Amino acid sequence: MDTQLPQLTEQQLADNEALNLQIKQKINELGGFLAFVDYMNLALYSPKYGYYSGRVEKIGIHGDFTTSPQLTDLFGKSLANQVQQILPQTAGNLYEFGAGTGKLAVDILNALPENVCKKYYIIELSADLQERQKEYIAKHSPQHIHKIEHLYSLPETFDGIILGNEVLDAMPCEIVEKRDDVIYRMGVKNTQQGFDWAEEKATGLLLEQALHKLPNTNETYRTEINLYAQAFVKTIAERLRRGGILWIDYGFDANEYYHPQRSMGTLIGHYQHRTIDNPFMFTGQMDLTAHVNFSDIADSSMQTGIDFIGYTNQANFLIACGITDLLAQIGDSSSHEYIKSAAACQKLLNPHEMGELFKCIAFSKNIDTDWLGFSGLDLSHKL
Ligand SMILES: C[S@@+](CC[C@H](N)C(=O)[O-])C[C@H]1O[C@@H](n2cnc3c(N)ncnc32)[C@H](O)[C@@H]1O
Repeated sequence: MDTQLPQLTEQQLADNEALNLQIKQKINELGGFLAFVDYMNLALYSPKYGYYSGRVEKIGIHGDFTTSPQLTDLFGKSLANQVQQILPQTAGNLYEFGAGTGKLAVDILNALPENVCKKYYIIELSADLQERQKEYIAKHSPQHIHKIEHLYSLPETFDGIILGNEVLDAMPCEIVEKRDDVIYRMGVKNTQQGFDWAEEKATGLLLEQALHKLPNTNETYRTEINLYAQAFVKTIAERLRRGGILWIDYGFDANEYYHPQRSMGTLIGHYQHRTIDNPFMFTGQMDLTAHVNFSDIADSSMQTGIDFIGYTNQANFLIACGITDLLAQIGDSSSHEYIKSAAACQKLLNPHEMGELFKCIAFSKNIDTDWLGFSGLDLSHKL
């Protein structure tokens, strides 16, 4: 074990052991093989001990990773500019999936003119994050608390704007490996030393997609296919009656995702701002994530007949939504607020940080298809 890594607290260790035991029993019940997608689902969302279920702080400097809304309120204010353009064409509802600390909701609601947003629905799997969101919004946007409603199941229909920042990357994915012209579905087995990789031959839809997506290479090639995210975005698109959908996340188009040189995939763990390759370490105490294949997100959504709006990178989207003007409006460039905001913008926009790796993709139904955020660089030909 890397001795540099911060160690788990006693409580974390106990929770980690309890989850390991549950997973171990599951593997035994299943005859020795648990598909990786099911392992990742338990590691992140197992009701008591999954990463997103526990009380440990996850997002921000005291957590395991930081997201764009945490860096600066200019992220939410820029999104509010986009929202303001299209929300009035709908019933005025915002639906945020996986709302993290609640900061994006606060920043958007505080930036929007009164009455543009009628209701702000949050759909969040993590009970711990739901509590944190309620507390944060009550503290930082008490005048809007009456607009917030947590939903515990997916609405049958949506009329408004659906937003998800870094939600799709947190959905459990399948891992496949191509070796000697055979496609394997990767999974987990029990060993004396803990969990380890296992495999079975891929079948069905997974095999079909792997044969279609993976590159022709003689080397062993391991990657992810996210069937869950595909089904999820399709359902959301099907249920949209009027309005728009905006997904923001890190990832690539299919060509880049399944590039022959990306032979180890993109799965990674985050623990206290360090990246960890071994997904079996700190189970339930470490975030697990894989990059998003935006070609899949586009294909699955558009199977429903929804309008495609655009695909661009985060830098271009935020600039088109006015983030640099918002920064300039802070005024005095030697003030602490300006310097802090400028540094955050640099992180959000710099191609070597979040500017290029993060992408924005949007769809709409029964509203204008001309969106502010996609008026700059168009990357849709890459999908
Ligand atoms: C990486 S965090 C991002 C949080 C937040 N959006 C931010 O940017 O700070 C991923 C979030 O997605 C949520 N999530 C994952 N799958 C979800 C689903 N199917 N429905 C709702 N939330 C989901 C997780 O519970 C978690 O809150």
